[in-house]
Order: sequence, then structure tokens, then C-alpha cells
Amino acid sequence: MAEIAIRVENLSKLYYLNYGLARNMLREVIVDVLKKPLKKVFQADKNDFRNKKELWALKDISFKINKGEVVGVIGRNGAGKSTLLKILARITPPTKGYARLYGRLSSILEIGTGFHGELTGRENVFFNGALLGMKRRELIKKLDEIVAFAELEKFIDTPLKHYSSGMAVRLAFSVAAHLEPEILLVDEVLSVGDSVFQQKCLGKMGDFAKGGRTVLFVTHQLNQVRRLCEKCIWLANGMIQRVGSVSEVVSAYEASFSSFFTEEDPTGRALAGASSAAVFFKWEAIGSGVENYNTLTEISPLTLRFWLKVGQPLKHCSTSVLLFTSDNQLVWGNAISKVSFEPGVYTLEYSLSSLPLRPSTYYLQVVLFDENGSVVDNWQCYPHLVVATKPMGHFRDEYAGILNIPCSFLIKTK
Ligand SMILES: Nc1ncnc2c1ncn2[C@@H]1O[C@H](COP(=O)(O)OP(=O)(O)O)[C@@H](O)[C@H]1O
Ligand SMILES: [Mg+2]
Repeated sequence: MAEIAIRVENLSKLYYLNYGLARNMLREVIVDVLKKPLKKVFQADKNDFRNKKELWALKDISFKINKGEVVGVIGRNGAGKSTLLKILARITPPTKGYARLYGRLSSILEIGTGFHGELTGRENVFFNGALLGMKRRELIKKLDEIVAFAELEKFIDTPLKHYSSGMAVRLAFSVAAHLEPEILLVDEVLSVGDSVFQQKCLGKMGDFAKGGRTVLFVTHQLNQVRRLCEKCIWLANGMIQRVGSVSEVVSAYEASFSSFFTEEDPTGRALAGASSAAVFFKWEAIGSGVENYNTLTEISPLTLRFWLKVGQPLKHCSTSVLLFTSDNQLVWGNAISKVSFEPGVYTLEYSLSSLPLRPSTYYLQVVLFDENGSVVDNWQCYPHLVVATKPMGHFRDEYAGILNIPCSFLIKTK
């Protein structure tokens, strides 16, 4: 049986937001401080409940992570991702529930935590290493590796206050990664570093998992999650919206951004269409790389099959199929003309040699026109098409483009 690395049970975190303070003029705050110099300015008066607003940043969260798993944590801003990582890293206590970690932990949460501007890079490495429980001898042995990975050889004796935020992140990641943690927590900080360094960090995190270690990381780069993780946790409003296999969770998360995906009942559509001239009521993808009729897990030949129920004879119709991204960009389309139908049920099939799209959620639209070009039926197909192949493009989502094509690279001197 797999060994557990992180166990989270009924975890909740309550923050108090102080309304009163936000409304106060700076002048009032200063007067307040002068009157009561010992009271903390930014602490709400314990008895002043009128000014307090409760905010549950996490609500009753439970999950388990096994050793050797790389788990992505995704969700919109304010979902509670950083709060979760801070509780796991023991930076803030939970209000209810508990989190247990089995193994030596290191974390990269906010830039700057544990770093001192006046100290040099080298001094910070020793300071941080000590904080994370490393012996000085161990650190001396590791220093060169840490500095080399961070590519900061030239700056290692420069005070940290002269580093750019990207340089600071490089140092922070390198220190945390070289402590040989059994569990590594990484918040979004990596987005600060340049793309080459990001790739290096992703590679390092992947290596961790191969060595049986556990990584929990927060990112907005969804294909990074697809590339690196097998498991994913989606947080929404402080709750677990979904946890499970990465393709399923990331696709559901992406689909949630689109207002197009309505839970239309296909059989309902078929019944409603009994009396109409023609109605599309079902679609499916078929092929060796297809799962669950709508999920592409491999780039391989496939057939898109649409079911049409025809209620009355239709002559010289035309039909078209369109494929859109979840943000309505047209990816592909095709049309067939001069087709005739007698009443009955038909399947219309488009066979493609492959559909090498980047992993994401898409939707299909099928339309049937009569001989005058009027729409007989127009169906935005449900369920949506899920592409859950391994991403092979640029490792940064914003440059990966819309296609996912296997590509090899060769460099030669001529
Ligand atoms: N120290 C804090 N005091 C009060 N509210 C906080 C504090 N930290 C976070 N929050 C609130 O908790 C919620 C979750 O925040 P956070 O965990 O940072 O979300 P995420 O990292 O997913 O963007 C947000 O509504 C945020 O405003
Ligand atoms: Mg955050």
C-alpha cells in the first residue's frame, strides 16, 4: 500500500477582516495610537464585533497525498491555495482540523520569507539552511550546487537587497530544492523567474517525484500541472471543488470558465425533437485514443459521430460541424452538402487522421440546413470535447499555442 506523505482532515481557516479600519481616516488611526499607544493599530478591538467580518479562507478540507506524488493545486485568486500551503508549512495555524506531514519539509511560499536584505546571497544560504535544519558541514558541501543551480555565481557575495525579485526566487528555490526535502511545497513564486529557470525548476520537481518525494505546488499554468502532476486539487471558495486525476480536474476547471457548458440532457433533446423536422441528440468520439466518448487521451485517428433524428422527409440539405475552444475561438470546421433524409435515426460521421489540439476543453457545434439554407437544427453539443493528451508544446502555456504536435529538434554545424 502507498505510504502517506500528507494527511489533511477537516481543515478550516478563519480570518477576521476589520471593516472599521478600512473606513478610518489615517488621521483617526494616528489619534487612536496617540491615545492608546500600547494597542496594536492593526488589531481590531476584541469587543468591537460590529467592525469584524468573518472570512473562512478554508472550509472543512480533507485529502491525502501519497509519497512520490506531485500534486497541483489550482483555483481562482482568493480560493485559499496560499492559505492551505501556509498551514501545511506551519506558518499559520488552522482554526479547525489538522494537517499532518510525514517527512522533512521545505517550502517556497512568498518571496522574501526567511531572506535578509542586508546579508549576502551566501550568508542567506547559510541562514536559510540553518532555519530548515541543515548542518553547517552539509551546507558547505551543498553551497556550490545551490549557487550553480541558481546561476548566481557572480552575485553570491552581493547583499540580497541588490537582487532582482527573479534572482531572489532563484536562490530561494535552489536552497529549498537542495535541502533534499521529502516534501516540497511551492506557491506561485516561480512565475516571477524567467522562463528558462522555470523549466529548470519544473524539471527538478519532476526529479523529486521520481526519487519518491512529494511535491505540492500552486500554479496558474494549467498545462504545467498536466505535464508534471498525476493528481490535482481544485479549490474554490475555500472548499475542494474536485480532487482526482489531473486530466479530469484540470479539464473541469477549464470548463468552469466557459458559460457555454450547460448541463443539457441529450435524451431530453431527442424526446423534444420527436415532432420536429430533424434534431441532433447525441454525439460521440470513437477511436483507440478516446475514453468515455468525449475524452481524447492520445493523438491518433478518430471519428466524430453525431446522431440525428429526422421526423419528416428532407431533400438537398447541408450540414456542418464546427469545433471551438472554450473561449469561442474557431479551431476547425467542415461542411457536407446535398444530403437527403427520410424519417428515421441517422449517424453522421467525420473521420479525422488526428486532432492534435493542446490539452483543454472544446465544444462542437453541428448544424443542419434545409435546401433554402434555413437552419433546421443547430446544436451546441453536450458533453464538451476534452483533450487530455500530454502537452508537447512550449512549457509555458502562453506560448504553447493551440496545436499539440509531437516535434523533435536537431542542431547541426554546417
Ligand atoms: N492574513 C489574512 N487576513 C485576512 N484575510 C486573508 C489573509 N490571508 C488571506 N486572506 C483571505 O483568504 C482568502 C484566501 O486567500 P489565499 O489563500 O491567499 O488565496 P489564493 O492563494 O488561492 O489566491 C482570500 O479571500 C484572502 O483575501
Ligand atoms: Mg495565493
